[in-house]
Amino acid sequence: MAFIHSSTVTFLPSLLLFLSFITAYAAGNFYQNFDITWGDGRANILDNGQLLTLSLDKASGSGFQSKNEYLFGNIDMQLKLVPGNSAGTVTAYYLSSKGSNWDEIDFEFLGNVSGQPYILHTNVFSQGKGNREQQFYLWFDPTADFHTYSILWNPHHIIFSVDGTAIREFKNMESKGVAFPKNQAMRIYSSLWNADDWATRGGLVKTDWNEGPFIASYRNFNADASSSNAWYSQQLDSTSKERLSWVQKNYMIYNYCNDTKRFPQGLPTECTAS
Ligand SMILES: *[C@@H]1O[C@H](CO)[C@@H](O)[C@H](O)[C@H]1NC(C)=O
Ligand SMILES: *[C@@H]1O[C@H](CO)[C@@H](O)[C@H](O)[C@H]1NC(C)=O
Repeated sequence: MAFIHSSTVTFLPSLLLFLSFITAYAAGNFYQNFDITWGDGRANILDNGQLLTLSLDKASGSGFQSKNEYLFGNIDMQLKLVPGNSAGTVTAYYLSSKGSNWDEIDFEFLGNVSGQPYILHTNVFSQGKGNREQQFYLWFDPTADFHTYSILWNPHHIIFSVDGTAIREFKNMESKGVAFPKNQAMRIYSSLWNADDWATRGGLVKTDWNEGPFIASYRNFNADASSSNAWYSQQLDSTSKERLSWVQKNYMIYNYCNDTKRFPQGLPTECTAS
């Protein structure tokens, strides 16, 4: 008894220390979770795997992808976007499957000249069909610090969130005939590239290469893919719905569901069905 007791006493604290160590390690480790896929040295994993940076200069951008594929998931990443004059640059952070009938869930951050707002561009593709753009300004400067950008993807819906506030919901409307991503596993991808033909004020403002290299940073990646956890059946509660309407009312600058000129034959089904 005495022996078991004393060994338990010494064992427990070190077990707890060990567990908290692997939790912290697993949460942030870019070596473990991602592969750098392009950029010839412009993408780097730093601080023992806690930080990843992408860089863009006139010769090339850079990018990475997850080692794992996800079929549903609750995925958080903190990003600090290219500061200063980032006009013409795009930082894309998205989930995508492969093939011609691919599914995709997109965050794209369109840079701007100093002091002017980034645009957060979002889209959802199901079975190769996209054209579901919604764009937002943010309520903070996304270059001053890290902020959390999340995708919750479960069988009910896809929720895009920023610092825990839902900004967009794409509901599963299969019952109305709208394809919903649910059969194809997706990988996480991110890249920093030059898109000055369209990104900033529709392409009017070009990338100023004298400002480069342009650098975006990533940390605190966390993905929960276990369907036994709460996120798998999570729906928006009334507070989240209120926050979502607040963002959509005050920060949404483009909504495809509002663009009747673009869809003269009628708005897409998911825009009008409820
Ligand atoms: C950049 O700033 C201009 C002027 O404020 C604004 O119209 C535009 O939406 C901003 N964002 C982008 C990505 O063009
Ligand atoms: C929706 O459409 C109206 C009328 O065309 C326009 O004034 C408004 O800015 C649009 N809102 C969004 C978020 O696109």
